[in-house]
Amino acid sequence: MSLESIPTRGRTLDYAAGVYDFCEPMLLFGREKAINKRLVGLLEIETSHRILDIGCGTGVLSKRIADELDAETGGISVGIDASGKMIEGARKKRGSDVSRFEVAAAEKLPFENEYFDSVVSTLFFHHIHLDLKERALSEAFRVLKPGGKLVISDMHTPTNLFGAILSHASRWILFQPQIGENIRGVMPGLIKAAGFLSPEYVTTYFGYITVFSTIKP
Ligand SMILES: C[S@@+](CC[C@H](N)C(=O)[O-])C[C@H]1O[C@@H](n2cnc3c(N)ncnc32)[C@H](O)[C@@H]1O
Repeated sequence: MSLESIPTRGRTLDYAAGVYDFCEPMLLFGREKAINKRLVGLLEIETSHRILDIGCGTGVLSKRIADELDAETGGISVGIDASGKMIEGARKKRGSDVSRFEVAAAEKLPFENEYFDSVVSTLFFHHIHLDLKERALSEAFRVLKPGGKLVISDMHTPTNLFGAILSHASRWILFQPQIGENIRGVMPGLIKAAGFLSPEYVTTYFGYITVFSTIKP
């Protein structure tokens, strides 16, 4: 039986789930493995950690995180996505005793307060409108333990001409005003407003994807 998607105003990718693993490396110009390695490094993972990947898609990063964990010490990687088809694919290809995938909306996470040691999210926030960005960040804050890390890698104000062309073209070709919000640079302010420390700018890839890292005080 196929998994139902969860209703959200976010732009879910049910229709792309079947080809996502093929297309996504192209969006990252073949540097997906290196980028995920850097993100995993930023999370400072211990084998007993519980780590949440928001908007996980087919779970490539979640699985990479799970490889650092040990179920026997309580370690678990949980990927959530509002798309049933994405989660179906993730479970089939990457589910295990340390790698769990659930259909859920980022703006209403089905987890108790302070459950996770870290929260990560890649290429997800440009899929949701400003109010949902706020709600998803406040949910990330709620489910994180104090001292826990939040790492976000997403579209942000372009830093070069290539990044600017790519970002603005995506915004208009995909009719996605949510991307316009990221281009305007809303993410750091929203992260701080949700209660996190001022986010550190870690790096920018291809002039259009910026990595932010912060902590729940
Ligand atoms: C571009 S994909 C990113 C997938 C993966 N994180 C990656 O980096 O390849 C964005 C994902 O966000 C999901 N999504 C959109 N709105 C959502 C929401 N409100 N809650 C959870 N997931 C959502 C989509 O279904 C899609 O799988």
